[in-house]
Amino acid sequence: MGIDPNYRSLPAAKEEQGVKIYGTYEPPTKLGIWGTIVGVDFDLCIADGSCINACPVNVFQWLDTPGHPASEKKAFPINEQACIFCMACVNVCPVAAIDVKPP
Ligand code: F3S
Ligand code: F3S
Repeated sequence: MGIDPNYRSLPAAKEEQGVKIYGTYEPPTKLGIWGTIVGVDFDLCIADGSCINACPVNVFQWLDTPGHPASEKKAFPINEQACIFCMACVNVCPVAAIDVKPP
């Protein structure tokens, strides 16, 4: 099962460098979904990195998440405002951890 496409209606627990975090945020093991335009479910992300390579406008950068059971780094959508909605990231993620929705 991939990211919940309705996650934006969950309460935003926190904000990190201007990026909202939705759902349960209990680090290091539960990190929630990061981003509003480009959402990455950090609890699903296994640090495959295909999204980072595929994005033509460098929306993502690695963020270290030591102690998380799925992977110890995540694709942080720090530049989500730059997204041009090509959907490459959504299509390449092997665990369907990304949901993109124009504002
Ligand atoms: Fe990049 Fe994904 Fe947007 S690949 S342009 S963040 S749809
Ligand atoms: Fe993670 Fe999927 Fe990207 S596993 S690093 S969100 S391709």
